[in-house]
Amino acid sequence: MTSSPKEAIAERLGVVRQRTLELLESLDDEQLNRVYSPLLSPLAWDLGHIANFEELWLVQAVGGREPLRGELGRFYDAIENPRKTRGELPILRDPELRTYLADVRERTLQVLEEVEIGDGAENRLLREGFVYEMLFAHELQHNETMLQLLQMVDGYEPVRPEFAPGFAPSPEEPESIAVEGGKHEVGAPRRGFAYDNERPRHTVDIPPFEIDRTPVTNGAYIRFMEDTGAEPPMYWEPDGEGGWLQTARGRRDPVDPGHPVVHVSWHEADAFARWADKRLPSEAEWEVARPRLDGIGQVWEWTSSDFRAYPGFEAFPYREYSEVFFGDAYKVLRGGAWATHPSVARSTFRNWDLPQRRQIFSGFRCARDLP
Ligand SMILES: [Fe+2]
Repeated sequence: MTSSPKEAIAERLGVVRQRTLELLESLDDEQLNRVYSPLLSPLAWDLGHIANFEELWLVQAVGGREPLRGELGRFYDAIENPRKTRGELPILRDPELRTYLADVRERTLQVLEEVEIGDGAENRLLREGFVYEMLFAHELQHNETMLQLLQMVDGYEPVRPEFAPGFAPSPEEPESIAVEGGKHEVGAPRRGFAYDNERPRHTVDIPPFEIDRTPVTNGAYIRFMEDTGAEPPMYWEPDGEGGWLQTARGRRDPVDPGHPVVHVSWHEADAFARWADKRLPSEAEWEVARPRLDGIGQVWEWTSSDFRAYPGFEAFPYREYSEVFFGDAYKVLRGGAWATHPSVARSTFRNWDLPQRRQIFSGFRCARDLP
């Protein structure tokens, strides 16, 4: 039996929410409300923000309803409220928070019954079900943000295997692949879900280059640290015998030299690449080479590129998703980490962060010019 598009949306809404709830299932309210780091929101803020974003787009914008809780939304505005302030805000907590999630969802499903979805929809938000795709992606992306915070929660018990780090071994001396120079197409095609910053698809002229087949490993990074005195990645500490331990989630596991290095800053990645007589790839090079690359989906990969608008960029559906971040302050990361839901990690997806950040699941691979 095939389900209608609306039934399929309702089902995915349920599947995504189940993932969010299972991610936090082993935590108590105190852990949800606690501020672990000025760089990360308390989990209760993320959860309330997920529901508020749903209310804003799927209930208010699409359904024309009034907000359930008056002015509450301003405390969940990610631009208005920097992360270090979010623990102090009068946000919803405990049973009140759970009630809000459920109340919003009930209204979302009512609105879904009423709206017209599809190519001919008058409201651009509803064409190709865009606003629902945006909602799924948003919630799954916040799952990853919550996983960043969960690295700081001692004894966190993942109830699904996908909530624990998963890495494949890579060689310390990576093979590289050569990519011919010339004109290449990058960016998302006109149809299908993508964020505004991935469009329009356009042609870039790239000189020939070589890119490593696999990301930089812990073993290679240790050699770099020993040679240059560079800082260890976040969540590493010495084991007292010349080796290193991973301390995320309060564990003390030996660092595996064959796994990709993670939790390094852009500055550190860039310094490693220079030390290795290589450089970081540009995001266009990364995207062009991707169909031939191994090891994707373990760590986000820093690129040399600033987060800028593609030529002909048009903000949709709101400037605060991408446009306000364009410029030379943020660096682009490509690929996706073990903590990234596969549906988020499109080959054209652009992640961005400040070059000093390390709490994200950031690693990198190296590239080199070819004559
Ligand atoms: Fe958000």
